[in-house]
Amino acid sequence: MKLLRRTLPVLIVLLSVAAAAQQATTLNKPQIEERITKLMEQMSLDEKVGQLNQYRSLKDPSDLKPITEGSIGSLMETGADKTNALQRVAMQKSRMKIPILFGHDVIHGFRTIFPIPLAQASSWDPAQVESDSAIAAKEAASAGVRWTFAPMVDIARDPRWGRISEGSGEDPYLGAALAAARVRGFQGTDLSDPNKIAACAKHFAAYGAAEGGRDYNLADVSIKTLRDIYLPPFQAAQLSGVATFMASFNDLNGVPSTANRFLLDETLRKEWRFQGFTVSDWDSVRELMLHSVAATPEEAAYKAIIARTDMDMKGDIYINHLAELVMSAKVPMWIVDDSARRVLRIKFLLGLFDNPYVDPAREKATLLAPDHLAAARTSAQKSIVLLKNDNNLLPLPKTGKRVALIGPLADDKANMLGDWIADGKADDAVTVLAGFREKLGPDAQITHVKGASILGDTPQADIDAAVTAAKNSDVAVLVLGETATMTGEAASRAYLDLPGKQQQLLEAVHATGVPVVLVVMSGRPLTITWAQNNVNAIVYAWFLGTQSGHALADVLFGDVNPSAKLPVTFPRTIGQVPLYYNYLQSGRPNAPKGDTMGYIDETIAPLYPFGFGLSYTTYQYSNLRVANSKLPVNGQTKVLIDIRNTGQRAGDEIAQLFVRVMSGSTSRPVRELRGFRRVTLAPGEIKTVEFTLSGAKLGAHNFEGVYVVDPGAMEVWVGPNSAEGQSAKMELVR
Ligand code: NOJ
Repeated sequence: MKLLRRTLPVLIVLLSVAAAAQQATTLNKPQIEERITKLMEQMSLDEKVGQLNQYRSLKDPSDLKPITEGSIGSLMETGADKTNALQRVAMQKSRMKIPILFGHDVIHGFRTIFPIPLAQASSWDPAQVESDSAIAAKEAASAGVRWTFAPMVDIARDPRWGRISEGSGEDPYLGAALAAARVRGFQGTDLSDPNKIAACAKHFAAYGAAEGGRDYNLADVSIKTLRDIYLPPFQAAQLSGVATFMASFNDLNGVPSTANRFLLDETLRKEWRFQGFTVSDWDSVRELMLHSVAATPEEAAYKAIIARTDMDMKGDIYINHLAELVMSAKVPMWIVDDSARRVLRIKFLLGLFDNPYVDPAREKATLLAPDHLAAARTSAQKSIVLLKNDNNLLPLPKTGKRVALIGPLADDKANMLGDWIADGKADDAVTVLAGFREKLGPDAQITHVKGASILGDTPQADIDAAVTAAKNSDVAVLVLGETATMTGEAASRAYLDLPGKQQQLLEAVHATGVPVVLVVMSGRPLTITWAQNNVNAIVYAWFLGTQSGHALADVLFGDVNPSAKLPVTFPRTIGQVPLYYNYLQSGRPNAPKGDTMGYIDETIAPLYPFGFGLSYTTYQYSNLRVANSKLPVNGQTKVLIDIRNTGQRAGDEIAQLFVRVMSGSTSRPVRELRGFRRVTLAPGEIKTVEFTLSGAKLGAHNFEGVYVVDPGAMEVWVGPNSAEGQSAKMELVR
């Protein structure tokens, strides 16, 4: 027994390594390896290094030499005609006839733009996210793009960080489920399918832990937190067969990721048995000099390749210095061989050697296909979070009401697409005003007023015009928020309130006494505490993509009952940040003076907890039962709960299962998500929702980075969000 006790954690670690090894077989196909070997036998050192070089485009479009000489492995061009033309040069004029891999940031759609990833995550619907990604892949592939720099799977606990918009929020379990879904959607089961593209898990790793929420900043993260919180979505991507990984810009625990052997070699290659290739982030090999780990470009090339960054994105460092480093025996040849083999492996798996071109007619038929737009509308509907709905102000009736539609984002096509829109076009987008008009028809009584600007000045007259419009209406719908460029890369914010004079606009319209519906478009949680305390209804729309206006009209006028839940905690004020649900409780949780908890002037309670979201109906959870409350560490149990729709409308509820382990060998979070289920319920209907809880998945990493499952007391909750739910005591037993 003692032996078992000591070996059990080790066994569990070995099991997860074995699971990772399964993936190696998917990317490693003997026939392909043979073709690579034959090809590489004929390649010069320079040609091998060429495969490790990526540019956005040719520096001089009329100079095709870099392609004919074989010194480009990948470009970021798009479009069937353009990629075909460049590919023809590679296939017909270069010595080795190695196809170019065209990569692009296909983050939430290619031409048909889906909701931003954080919005998609609000659907808690892996099947939906998978199908969104599959459509994005199909459109991108039709335009010659066979590699996306997605999914972005960074856990983000700090809404100041602009790139929170690109990921799935704060939770590793939800993040892992959606990382896997996105990889499946992009890659399918066979990369050589012409509708599929290679995915890239980024940014490896802990980019979201940037200190102070400032983009590119260092991440100082314990091994335990790295493995428990930041790595699970990456490992899920790896287990799903993701073809590539991107090293993050940040310094992780003292070593920039691009030169971080622990990450790229020990963890990714040796522990997880990753067979695809790694790419630096934009110029991040060169940036090793700014991080002061390399004094010269040569040293930057050396540190990056030795750490196992296979491809240099944009930096010109490998192409200028790597061959020389090999010739002078500073970098062993086998490392460059291995990197080149990995890049070629993905090109072969994509079928690029056999089918390097795409059909322009197929591109035309694929982009913005009607079924893609329909899917984008469904996805947007599922991403809209209802945060407040006093006296059932929503849904609004379709007839008989005068609506004042106010705000800088009410009729704005470009911003609603969000950041990173690949080949998305503002002209394709349906604004809220257009969505309302189409929904309500020619008799609609809609007054549209901009009311304020997000950036730049807002004359008082604009606010006054909005107030007048509201006074002459039965309801005011305000569409406020951020511009798309206020989130995404290099867009950290030190304030989380509504920018510009939008707050004044909101307060002025509210002061009219007309019922107010606030619709927020944004790529991050904003501190809308005043709104929560004052306006009648709040809908968080994020940036919903091409079909934004239709989806919002569907929800606001009741054709669709909202079901989304927040994938991230909303703070009441920026001083609470970082604030997340799965925190480690201190020994004195009630320490500050007075009746607040956490600060002397504010509680640590969020404005909205992780997992929160309302519906036009109500649900009652009852009768939580655990089939086996003594759960063996290597066993499973069912956890069941009854959910009843106690309202008047059909709806989807997303039930969430959380656990707390009470006697861990390391401190454990107050709650950890370990399951979620979507259930559709007619009015009055009751269904039993079932979860399977595995003992082996209730462990955590210790300070040596070893995964340990600790037997002892634990508690389980099932509920509508991370702050509510029915609970039961359990015990993890050997
Ligand atoms: C830099 C970004 O960090 C990364 O996410 C993106 O994929 C590359 N640029 C390429 O555009």
